[in-house]
Amino acid sequence: GALPDDLFEAIGTLKKELNAVLLAHYYQDPDLQDIADYIGDSLELSRKAANTDADVIVFVGVHFMAETAKILNPDKLVLLPDLEAGCSLADSCPPDAFAEFKAAHPNHLVVSYINCSAEIKAMSDIICTSSNAVKIVNQIPKEQPIIFAPDRNLGRYVAEQTGRDLVLWQGSCIVHETFSERKIVQLKIEHPEAEVIAHPECEPSVLRHASYIGSTTALLKYSQASSNQTFIVATEPGIIHQMQKQAPGKRFIPAPPESNCACNECPFMRLNTLEKLYLAMKNRQPEITLPEEIQVAALRPIQRMLEMSV
Ligand code: 13P
Ligand code: SF4
Repeated sequence: GALPDDLFEAIGTLKKELNAVLLAHYYQDPDLQDIADYIGDSLELSRKAANTDADVIVFVGVHFMAETAKILNPDKLVLLPDLEAGCSLADSCPPDAFAEFKAAHPNHLVVSYINCSAEIKAMSDIICTSSNAVKIVNQIPKEQPIIFAPDRNLGRYVAEQTGRDLVLWQGSCIVHETFSERKIVQLKIEHPEAEVIAHPECEPSVLRHASYIGSTTALLKYSQASSNQTFIVATEPGIIHQMQKQAPGKRFIPAPPESNCACNECPFMRLNTLEKLYLAMKNRQPEITLPEEIQVAALRPIQRMLEMSV
């Protein structure tokens, strides 16, 4: 059928009918951020999902995020506007290969970044996000060997920050690996007053130019608190919508990709649209479902993360 003229209003009506909560990540299109009940980084969104009393969770983000919400709420309906909204980082760690990797490193504790599938979570001891990874690894006894999966860039950064020797799974995010060191240096010459701020999923060649490194929420907070007026932002540019909204007078320059043909937007995050969000709520699908044994096994490491990051 035809779509309603005012999608914002129609989504608002469906939200009441379903008693739904809309959780959105900062890498979503501005319209989707504006219509959400909560916007946040992966840790904040997991906390919201863990504590909501809504009947339906609509995840305006990618598959692993909606899956995490489902693991935390097995009896709730969890909707994702487009099931194709995956993640290159999660895909870079297939369960069979990871099971072999784990078997090759006995006695290691497995700390996995939340950007992974439910199957990987089920094989993990503790989940972390970019905002609590250092804090969590610091709580693990020094003599305990650790596997860190799947992001090698975040893993390398955490190893540096904690002084720990982590066994890294060699995964990465296509978005955070496109930023060009050469172009960032060029931008710094053009804007000597600008401060580079970066997400730890970026490569070391980019991170070494950053005066501040953190999760999306941490970057947002830092850019608001800093007395600086201009920032070169090395993460998915969706976050700039919030940075600009909260500090209209400041200037935020997205870090450019190496190739002019490449784009620094996450192709998975950007699959979601207002139309798909409306249709998902109207049709009560696509729904996230999980085999019970995976759901149960994946819950424990997520709960451990929530306990270790209060
Ligand atoms: P955070 O918002 O937790 O920093 O995660 C970034 C990211 O890449 C999500 O896919
Ligand atoms: Fe995955 Fe990277 Fe997209 Fe985040 S930005 S969802 S890590 S592909």
